[in-house]
Amino acid sequence: VVLVVDFGAQYAQLIARRVREARVYSEIVPSSMPVAEMLAKNPKAIILSGGPSSVYAEGAPRLDREIFEAGVPVFGMCYGFQLMATTLGGTVDDNGAREYGRTPLTVSKIGSTLFEGTPAEQSVWMSHGDACSAAPEGFTVTASTDVVPVAAFENDEKKLYGVQYHPEVLHSTHGQQILEHFLYRGAGIEPTWTTHNVVEEQVALIREQVGTKRAICGLSGGVDSAVAAALVQKAIGSQLTCVYVDHGLMRKGETEQVEKDFVAATGVQLKVVDAQERFLTALAGVSDPETKRKIIGREFIRVFEQAQLEILQEDGPEVAFLVQGTLYPDVVESGGGTGTANIKSHHNVGGLPDDIEFELVEPLRKLFKDEVRMVGQELGLPDEIVQRQPFPGPGLGIRIVGEVTKDRLDLLREADAIAREELTAAGLDREIWQCPVVLLADVRSVGVQGDGRTYGHPIVLRPVSSEDAMTADWTRMPYDVLAKISTRITNEVADVNRVVLDVTSKPPGTIEWE
Ligand code: XMP
Repeated sequence: VVLVVDFGAQYAQLIARRVREARVYSEIVPSSMPVAEMLAKNPKAIILSGGPSSVYAEGAPRLDREIFEAGVPVFGMCYGFQLMATTLGGTVDDNGAREYGRTPLTVSKIGSTLFEGTPAEQSVWMSHGDACSAAPEGFTVTASTDVVPVAAFENDEKKLYGVQYHPEVLHSTHGQQILEHFLYRGAGIEPTWTTHNVVEEQVALIREQVGTKRAICGLSGGVDSAVAAALVQKAIGSQLTCVYVDHGLMRKGETEQVEKDFVAATGVQLKVVDAQERFLTALAGVSDPETKRKIIGREFIRVFEQAQLEILQEDGPEVAFLVQGTLYPDVVESGGGTGTANIKSHHNVGGLPDDIEFELVEPLRKLFKDEVRMVGQELGLPDEIVQRQPFPGPGLGIRIVGEVTKDRLDLLREADAIAREELTAAGLDREIWQCPVVLLADVRSVGVQGDGRTYGHPIVLRPVSSEDAMTADWTRMPYDVLAKISTRITNEVADVNRVVLDVTSKPPGTIEWE
């Protein structure tokens, strides 16, 4: 394992991903972890991330000097670089030598361990106040900028390396190459971490954890639960039962995708609960978005628990495990990035007997989203599942502005299917993060179709581009694709006589309309 020590900015996750892109397994640890504990993990190398502090600020995070003396190769980036410099006797001045953003870097030692095969002038991403003016003894200065005399240093004998900039961001043109040079040349690590190995390793771990007992898994139709279920299925076969609640708020073809394609690809035992009537009844007469969300959430849990209960009552080994598609970013963000396995969890939500306790199986807790997709591909899941765009749990229920009825759901399903078909045909599925299609059920406008007056509903297209759904911008998609979607929806979907485009960023608008 390569440890990425997190000094409290968002850089650590990105660095961990870049290390994995170099096919080397990495884990994030907080900088507050004692060095002895880090070393006890037997890391093949350690990377010190950037961070928001100045090394001179009061309370700035530090590391015991031992980390540089244990014989483990270390690579410091930005804050990590400055920390390495000051700890080992170099000089860092807070003399106002600031650099932010794209900066030209001059490599002074062509062919060094880090810079081998990269040009003498390269563009890097800087973000710092203080600057290193003298490297510690025994280090060679290998790069500089107009402002910073020591922008990179290397000590091949002790296997210690550092750069002032952020090699992990794409704006640093040779960043990935330099990171790989550290891993392969500096630390002598072989790039062997592959999706295939991840699957093999997880299958073995799941078998060990579950033994001869049984496990259950809720399928939502999303990527994470599907890949988690497929992995567990590969490991324990018929000891796993999946539950899929069909609430009738899914898009066209999605329930069939789970029922047919997912089962065909994995051979999983699937219990489909048809709860459409139940949800429609619960939603009757409700227009308020928050009330709708609450009703859908509540009904979902009830139906799911009922299904669990039925499985628990079947003959067979004890059902002791619950599979969940938790991802690494969730683990890191909830402060559990230290790799604690086998977390016990009480899952006593109302409706299940008090003494039932499931142990969680979370085979994706070390993976990033793009790695989950690769694992899904490795397991043979169809692209329609693995490459799916995000879709909200409450489904089409929050894409009908107004009361949710069967007729309205059917109408929206048609319009949405047309939009998705045309976006895919135009090759826009990657560029567009998500494109909610919304029915304004309480709005009517006048139209003319086939010489007659119509009084129908508008459909809203909401194509957005985003990285993490926290912020988003509306996608400037080609007019001819919009025209085609509009023509098809108004021609093919009864009661819709107008298609409008949502041109609002987030903020101020959210991605969904409700
Ligand atoms: P908003 O509308 O808040 O959406 O900008 C941000 C992202 O979250 C999705 N979303 C949900 N996902 N359950 C989910 O699993 C929900 O209740 C839910 N509400 C919104 C939304 O589709 C977008 O990707």
